[in-house]
Amino acid sequence: MTFQAVLFDLDGVITDTAEYHYRAWKKLAGELGIEIDRSFNEQLKGVSREDSLKRILAFGGKEGEIGAEEFARLAERKNDSYIEMIAAITPDDVFPGILPLLEALQAAGKKIALASASKNGPFLLEKMGLTRFFGAIADPGAVAHSKPAPDIFLAAAKGVGTNIRACLGIEDALAGVQAIKAAGALPVGVGRAQDLGDDIAIVAGTAELTLAYLEEVWRQAQR
Ligand code: BG6
Ligand code: MG
Repeated sequence: MTFQAVLFDLDGVITDTAEYHYRAWKKLAGELGIEIDRSFNEQLKGVSREDSLKRILAFGGKEGEIGAEEFARLAERKNDSYIEMIAAITPDDVFPGILPLLEALQAAGKKIALASASKNGPFLLEKMGLTRFFGAIADPGAVAHSKPAPDIFLAAAKGVGTNIRACLGIEDALAGVQAIKAAGALPVGVGRAQDLGDDIAIVAGTAELTLAYLEEVWRQAQR
């Protein structure tokens, strides 16, 4: 048996929005007197908006100082600057190899689903002209636990009517790789082994993500 569906993360896998999330958080954190860098940012990747803000406040020793209303305002402020940054995204911003991969998967009869923690996922797929490929977009607002919990990947597999054991998941974040493993799908990482672990298949860039490569990863995992 080969795999029947691919569950995609979005930010940092389909396009470079992981960079914009970082810049928007760095700006907000700076306004609060908290300096974050790219190495700290690794632990924000894949993590929900609210959990990201909690981690930043804890890192800056300010978690006790912020009440619920202020917390919600800060999360909204980050999202406002993020939305400004992504306003100009077009199909040209889709990472190399992703469009041909989606076309090849579709032609091969594979199911395709989105398993992003981002509430901006549907908007971004529209802007990039990719919505038509996705049989399901799991709703991050409807799952009980965010990545590294398996919920969003389980919801994505369910959305395309596929057993999670027959799914590949593609991720650029450690929290996402952990979520894929916990769900029972087969992970493929985009990035570096030092960030994602040395026990999974990893590509340095999305141009390497071909249907043939995914089939080989599946074959080698002997599922
Ligand atoms: C994930 C990103 O995909 O979505 C995180 O990796 C982000 O950085 C999370 O915090 C939530 O996104 P949004 O757009 O709902 O704030
Ligand atoms: Mg990501």
